[in-house]
Amino acid sequence: MQITGKTALVTGGNDGIGLEIARQLKAKGARVIIAGRRAAGDDAIAVDLSTADGCKTLADAVADKSIDILINNAGMSGNFGPEDPVDLALTDKAIFLNFNAPLHLIGHMLDGLKARPEACIVNVTSGLAIAPRAGGPVYCASKAALRSFTQALRFNLKDSKVHVVEALPPVVETQMTAGREGSKMSPAECARQIIAAIEGNKAEANVGMVKILQLVHSISPALARSIMIRF
Ligand SMILES: NC(=O)c1ccc[n+]([C@@H]2O[C@H](COP(=O)([O-])OP(=O)(O)OC[C@H]3O[C@@H](n4cnc5c(N)ncnc54)[C@H](OP(=O)(O)O)[C@@H]3O)[C@@H](O)[C@H]2O)c1
Repeated sequence: MQITGKTALVTGGNDGIGLEIARQLKAKGARVIIAGRRAAGDDAIAVDLSTADGCKTLADAVADKSIDILINNAGMSGNFGPEDPVDLALTDKAIFLNFNAPLHLIGHMLDGLKARPEACIVNVTSGLAIAPRAGGPVYCASKAALRSFTQALRFNLKDSKVHVVEALPPVVETQMTAGREGSKMSPAECARQIIAAIEGNKAEANVGMVKILQLVHSISPALARSIMIRF
């Protein structure tokens, strides 16, 4: 897909990976609208996407903007890790933001996307959608659900002009991973690889180390799971 001249909506485009995606799309000549609770300024929509009403509000706000590229990037860490107190409200919020919100936005916007000369939906999942880690059961489950949905959606839209990309980042240096040890990819490099997948009409952006995880998983899903569960 050619980025120049397109209009993109990037959820969570005011921080982290989404902010870099927004910047790089703009640099390539796209008009970019961002959404997030703290989003401010021109072409920014302040909205909480962890509720159905918030998703509808955003879809209504962009209904007349002729969106060509929808990037479902907003996400949050979940809970239910071994040290986490039980907090089912947080569980529901994380599942809604990470899984339901992309479905709601796609549901509201699909007719509009289909009407564009060429369009693209990018769902940002995670390497953890392939195999979960024990520390984030809700997060991993929400991303695995989004991965499954994305694969079926791509098949269902294969004869349309709407291309469906799944972006699977590795550990990236953002607020979400603040305080976490170990090597982290820069948000700029992560965004660069995701945009390359959009431009190349790829089905998946397996970013950085996720390429190796995919390889291990293709040889032995059990081995991939046993490595990632301790990660
Ligand atoms: N960082 C990583 O290592 C990593 C790895 C794999 C996948 N990912 C995925 O990549 C995506 C971006 O992650 P990130 O690391 O860039 O996260 P981040 O730095 O924490 O940024 C999250 C973004 O989502 C928005 N957001 C959070 N809650 C929201 C809500 N209720 N309603 C609307 N927007 C909300 C935030 O804006 P507001 O706070 O203003 O709402 C912010 O712009 C997520 O889907 C994440 O799961 C990240």
